[in-house]
Amino acid sequence: LAEQVKEVWTSDDGSMAKDTASNRWPKIVQGMVDDVAETAATSVDRAQREEALSVQASLKEIKDELLQNRVLRPLPSDGRNDIPGYNERLEQLGGKCTWQGCPWLFGECYLYRRVHTIFALTNHWRDYDIFKRQKDSTFAKSCVAVEELSARYMQVIANSKLPEDTTNEEARKLLFVEMTEVALWGNATDLSLLSNLSLDQIQGLQGREAIAKSQRNIVDNDTDAVWQYLSNPLRSNRRIDIVLDNAGFEFFTDVIYAAYLLESGLASVIVFHVKDFPWFVSDVIPSDVESLFQHLESASIFSNRTYIDKLVPRLRAHFDSGAMSIKQHSFWTTAYSFHQMDALALGLFKSLQSSSLVIFKGDLNYRKLTKDGLWPHTTPFIDAIGSMGAGSGIKVLALRTNKSDTCVGLESQERVDALNEEAPHGAWIRNGKYAVVSFSDGE
Ligand code: F6P
Ligand code: MG
Repeated sequence: LAEQVKEVWTSDDGSMAKDTASNRWPKIVQGMVDDVAETAATSVDRAQREEALSVQASLKEIKDELLQNRVLRPLPSDGRNDIPGYNERLEQLGGKCTWQGCPWLFGECYLYRRVHTIFALTNHWRDYDIFKRQKDSTFAKSCVAVEELSARYMQVIANSKLPEDTTNEEARKLLFVEMTEVALWGNATDLSLLSNLSLDQIQGLQGREAIAKSQRNIVDNDTDAVWQYLSNPLRSNRRIDIVLDNAGFEFFTDVIYAAYLLESGLASVIVFHVKDFPWFVSDVIPSDVESLFQHLESASIFSNRTYIDKLVPRLRAHFDSGAMSIKQHSFWTTAYSFHQMDALALGLFKSLQSSSLVIFKGDLNYRKLTKDGLWPHTTPFIDAIGSMGAGSGIKVLALRTNKSDTCVGLESQERVDALNEEAPHGAWIRNGKYAVVSFSDGE
């Protein structure tokens, strides 16, 4: 099955891939040029200011190549061992694929990897996070939702003493549903989609009430099956892995979710998987963890700190005790789909096999799980995830708002037809207002 599915290309008419390659990538790269200029303008380090000029020139080169639809050229070596893999794939594609004529997943990973080579090969910009400014400003805009969620957590979750309250099964389940949705819709605010959303819309999406209303927009919803699995008292392994997506508000919701999983006894350890370097604009890199706490502790962002002040030490304690930790692996910033993880990153694959549940956050992880394939929408999720699916032993849970061209796991063609009517021209697969909670038990 997986060998036959067609991957979406940036040349596919009417696809999100095509729109992204022609309209959004040039803007994202221009944003990088502007960011470097802004940082250089206030830098006190003369050598850094001077080097900014060549960084900007290299970024502009990418933008020109994008606008002129040039061929993707081989990446220069920058000391990391993933470069040959990128260049081999370019060769496999005949050495001729262009920005607007390449597999979307490969081309987009190549873009962020190419940008990283530019920074990695400098003296003064090596560790610079080109997206930090954008991540920071977006977090500040989500302050209302952060206050609301903190209050909710401290009032309800932290006071409920649920692990001992085994008599109230239904209440435990409802809390699980709510917390899972918090982590799910936290993904709706992917920064690379933000240009299309007003501040009101962002806050609306994030607000708890919107979360409640949005349940009907979950087009494949396996929450019940996940609950059955997780709440089984006989389950002995309690490590849960979360393959993170975006920093800022989404990461805040992930940490809240993780705290809930720990405090309710559903997990004893949470491992967060982060990226090695700036990736797809807003993805979490190691420094974003401390950034989150700095934001939460900042005196200026919030108008009401009552609950945040109680919550933050609690979250910090989970990191300090090691109950929550972060982990890096170079595979996450390759262009490979997860169908190739067992062949190319066996150690990582095995470590996921030894987890009790692996939660994949967000759209890009979902594209990699499903090989960015144009599967019939009624394809069972377990079939679309290749070697991560049946027989892998890996419990996979995807929490993803739909922001690309791929969506599987729908119960029937009737449901697909109804969605096509309700949100025509693929809007339900792309506009971030619909989502999936898809589970594979790996058996
Ligand atoms: O087009 C939307 C997009 O930029 C895709 O390129 C990518 O899959 C996605 O957003 C990133 O979203 P997320 O942060 O949810 O992975
Ligand atoms: Mg992302």
